[in-house]
Amino acid sequence: MLTIALPKGRIGDDSLQIFEKIFAKPFRFEERKLILEMENFRFLRVRSQDVPTYVYHQAADLGVVGLDVLEEKGLDLVRLLDLGFGRCSVSIGIRAEEELRFDKPSYKVATKMENITRRYFSKRAIPVEIIKLYGSIELAPLVGLADMIVDIVETGETMRQNGLKPALDIMESSAYLIANKNSFYAKKEEILRLRHQIQEVL
Ligand code: PRP
Repeated sequence: MLTIALPKGRIGDDSLQIFEKIFAKPFRFEERKLILEMENFRFLRVRSQDVPTYVYHQAADLGVVGLDVLEEKGLDLVRLLDLGFGRCSVSIGIRAEEELRFDKPSYKVATKMENITRRYFSKRAIPVEIIKLYGSIELAPLVGLADMIVDIVETGETMRQNGLKPALDIMESSAYLIANKNSFYAKKEEILRLRHQIQEVL
């Protein structure tokens, strides 16, 4: 039996589709249910940012989550496979009419990805004040809360519709299959078999 934490939304849905292909039967959470048991698997339906937490604390053996979330959490987890879907980038966004430059003494950067943002700017010795937000990040430069944002860009539509543009990509992301180290050693054969089955249907 393997327990797998899946995020709500697209990445979770695409992950279940992989299992549907492997086992040729529907894998779907009933409405509002948070656990799904099928074949030899138990799926947990959690918030994307919580997937690494469930896996790290061994409440789940495996998880599927965006590399952006993994990097932001910074937990020591085994990255088993890049699933190739859920592609997006983490980018610096600025007002469409501006140019990206770093000649002021400091910049205010709004983001929900504090750690990725801090690492990026401190590596380059660019002084920034990070303003942590939980959503609607694109609003911040429009009302003077921040000079720029660091946020997820998938189609770029949200930035465009709010008069912003992606000025620089910090990292590329896609969905990864992850495991905690204990599960990986204790259930190695089962996990590697699943990884192989997933690779075959991708
Ligand atoms: C992300 C991100 C942007 C949007 C980008 O939010 O914060 O707002 O998607 O997508 P686009 O480039 O295709 O317009 P998400 O939908 O993940 O919601 P969240 O803020 O709850 O994480």
